[in-house]
Amino acid sequence: MEESGSRGVILTGMQPTGTLHLGNFLGAANRWNRMLERHTCYFFIPNQHAITVPQVPAALRAATLDCVAQYIACGLDPRRCSIFIQSHIVGHTELAWVLGSLTPIGQLYRMHQFKDKSAKGEHIYSGLLYYPILMAADILLYNADYVPTGEDQRQHVELARDLAEKFNATYSETFTVPVPLIEAVGARIMSLKFPERKMSKSDPDGNATIYITDGPEVIWKKIAAAVTDSGDRICADPERPGIANLLNIYCSATNTAVGVAEEKFATYRGYAPFKRELADALIALLGPVRERYAAIKNDKKYLQSVIHNGAETVQPIAHKTLAKVYRKVGFLEKK
Ligand code: TYM
Repeated sequence: MEESGSRGVILTGMQPTGTLHLGNFLGAANRWNRMLERHTCYFFIPNQHAITVPQVPAALRAATLDCVAQYIACGLDPRRCSIFIQSHIVGHTELAWVLGSLTPIGQLYRMHQFKDKSAKGEHIYSGLLYYPILMAADILLYNADYVPTGEDQRQHVELARDLAEKFNATYSETFTVPVPLIEAVGARIMSLKFPERKMSKSDPDGNATIYITDGPEVIWKKIAAAVTDSGDRICADPERPGIANLLNIYCSATNTAVGVAEEKFATYRGYAPFKRELADALIALLGPVRERYAAIKNDKKYLQSVIHNGAETVQPIAHKTLAKVYRKVGFLEKK
């Protein structure tokens, strides 16, 4: 679904847990700059979400500022949107507490991401279970109309919708009910090595993931080594997840409809020429991102000024929403 019509509020973010990958880029960041024109845009860095799994404090601090550089490198112009850090703003965790009091616990246990992460075992803290409520608070605090994300976040945005509707029904109209913006192509980029699981920063096999900072040689090597199958037809057949994933990446990177790409590659025999075209498309797409990133990543003063300005813009909005919510739920005002 694509947003249309009048100027709306966009809110979205990416966890500061390492260099963004092709899934983050094609599923989300590559579309963000197209939204600056028509909408009021808030892009934030959910560092409070990041601690729901163990982090090294110094690394998290560094990754948070680095994430600001990566956002800008992906095309965000801080003069046309607000970029801010979640923990700098009073309101996210406060609103999450209120929303948590409206959320049946069973709904949290049913969240796919909680099920996946907790199934892996060791570090299952209550923050991981509560995570989707904090995410709902992130969205509702700014009355976002649209939330652009990849497919894996759909269920979380649905929860934000449910909570907005529930709060409005319980206490009177307060929140905008947000609409998820999830593209048909690119919303689910899979691992290059294990195409049945999604591309992720935490994949121990470095060749399974392309990072936005990868140079031409690395991109080519990873694409050349990407898993396909013994066939030679280039098509979006779910029974052949390796080649289907590569075609999906090609379509998203070049903005080509799947049917058009299938027709284009119908005469190709073997996967090598297709892989070369795909790698060239990614090199062309990510080259400017890598260059912008190299130019700003060490300019800490500039990056700090961006998040300072972002916080100055959004804090009054957060305060206003929170004050309204506190009044509605019956918290006594401080005089
Ligand atoms: P995160 O940091 O896991 O991912 C950031 C964005 O990248 C998308 N994405 C993908 N898209 C396609 N293919 C993939 N393999 C892939 N991997 C990641 C995600 O869908 C997301 O859009 N909970 C969120 C962060 C968050 C948030 C929010 C987002 C916290 N509060 C409020 C929107 C609004 C997360 O962990 O995303």
